[in-house]
Amino acid sequence: MDTNARIYGDLERILVTREEIQEKVREMAQRLTKDYEGREPVMICILKGAFVFFSDLVREMDLPLTTEFMAISSYGSSTKSSGVVRILKDLDRDISGRDVLVVEDIVDSGLTLSYLKGVLETRKARSVAIVTLLDKPARRRVPLEVQYSCFNIPDAFVVGYGLDYDEKYRNLPDIGVLHPKIYTKEG
Ligand code: IMP
Ligand code: MG
Repeated sequence: MDTNARIYGDLERILVTREEIQEKVREMAQRLTKDYEGREPVMICILKGAFVFFSDLVREMDLPLTTEFMAISSYGSSTKSSGVVRILKDLDRDISGRDVLVVEDIVDSGLTLSYLKGVLETRKARSVAIVTLLDKPARRRVPLEVQYSCFNIPDAFVVGYGLDYDEKYRNLPDIGVLHPKIYTKEG
């Protein structure tokens, strides 16, 4: 481990390496490029967690796409979803009639995205599809169709490649399982 040596000490184990991520992100970009051929999708980055995935993904896509950023809050500093979703930063442009791809870091309970999908549909998007880096299907509390998922992972709290715990670890290049000692000593 040549970089980020200090924060790597807070991990129980590495779950997905940077090489595995890079390969999968490329594959996903190629798939999207094919599926959206002839269209100009609006790619929506869900801040903050998706920012690393988003920037890697859009750079591998060969389409006349546009980028938008939305910030949503469903988590405090704990590791469980509150079910409360707030839009902290909204889109800059109208999406009516557009093909929308919502890019998310992880789908857990599904509460955040099912709410968001509803919001985007009421704005008359032509289509809304979900692209996620990670999916924890075992934790789903509401039904949600996830069209594009890079990795299905077990029910563990993960950080890195944009994902945080208490706003930290987003800069880890790999995805790792956070050591429970980090969040059990809280409060
Ligand atoms: P959901 O509404 O329960 O699907 O929560 C989705 C959001 O919860 C994600 O966008 C993340 O911000 C956060 N989240 C869920 N699981 C994890 C995890 O294992 N690590 C870091 N953040 C997570
Ligand atoms: Mg988060």
